[in-house]
Amino acid sequence: MGKTVESLDIDVNDVSATLFVTLYCHALESQSKNPILNDPMSVELVQRLNGKLYHSDQVLYKRLVRGRLDKKLIVHIAIRAKKYDQYVRDFLKHSPEGVIVNIGCGMDTRFWRIDNGRTSFYDLDLPEVISIKKKLITENERYHFIGCDVLDHDWMSVLDRHGRGPYLFIAEGVFMYLRQRDVKSLVLKLQSQFPGSELVCEVFNQVWLRKPLLKKMMDFKMKKELHLGPGATFHFGISSSEAMETWNPGIQFLDDWSYFDTDEEKLGWLRLFRRFELFRKTQWTVHYKLN
Ligand SMILES: C[S@@+](CC[C@H](N)C(=O)[O-])C[C@H]1O[C@@H](n2cnc3c(N)ncnc32)[C@H](O)[C@@H]1O
Repeated sequence: MGKTVESLDIDVNDVSATLFVTLYCHALESQSKNPILNDPMSVELVQRLNGKLYHSDQVLYKRLVRGRLDKKLIVHIAIRAKKYDQYVRDFLKHSPEGVIVNIGCGMDTRFWRIDNGRTSFYDLDLPEVISIKKKLITENERYHFIGCDVLDHDWMSVLDRHGRGPYLFIAEGVFMYLRQRDVKSLVLKLQSQFPGSELVCEVFNQVWLRKPLLKKMMDFKMKKELHLGPGATFHFGISSSEAMETWNPGIQFLDDWSYFDTDEEKLGWLRLFRRFELFRKTQWTVHYKLN
């Protein structure tokens, strides 16, 4: 790190603006008492971004700089990041030289939290996001950026060129913003291009998306609490953890995880939600093998 941020162009679309929310959640939680997540690099990043974001005309950014984020949201995002770190560590236990692709990485600094000295790690996000990240963080021989729309499948050739594996694709807080047909064609493409790979991704429950009133309430909440733009809305959902198995033979459901499954004390009474399947699976994570 240590590059200058004065020339940084932080003009990103409504969905990408959410990456600053998760970054600030990581940093705030890391500085709290008994942190769920230890992410010193996120703290350094926000210190460098604060001035730039504060002087932007976006209410969201000004609020982030002032630390005005719902405590529950900070805890949720930190729990999620910690769990995705664990998915990666578990994968690297059996495949220490495995390749990790962090789809829709935002400003996340997972590589430095999980690095085992042998893995290769790709941070993939839209070109404008990667151009911000490049100004803040430097690539190295095992850490690379891919500045590309994940739906433009050409990015996969970068991995092909290196010709290694096995692969773990992770998508934390990303797929719900994409369209159903796009997520499906991406997953099928990953399956055909990288047979034997694993996919860990966060999904949303279709039930909530199919009820227009509920969807409106959700969108209202996101706009009101976070001051996100209208483009930051969910489109993709599934009905059960096994749903993607029906997309193609060979897609194999391995396990799932919900925020409420964790025993983190900071989650408090919300842990009770684990007993109610509809709440447990409002927004949750699924893990598949793509055979
Ligand atoms: C909520 S943020 C999550 C960032 C990061 N995964 C984290 O947990 O901190 C969503 C991210 O998805 C990225 N994204 C959305 N659509 C994308 C696309 N079509 N291709 C690549 N990245 C995308 C956004 O730019 C943004 O960085």
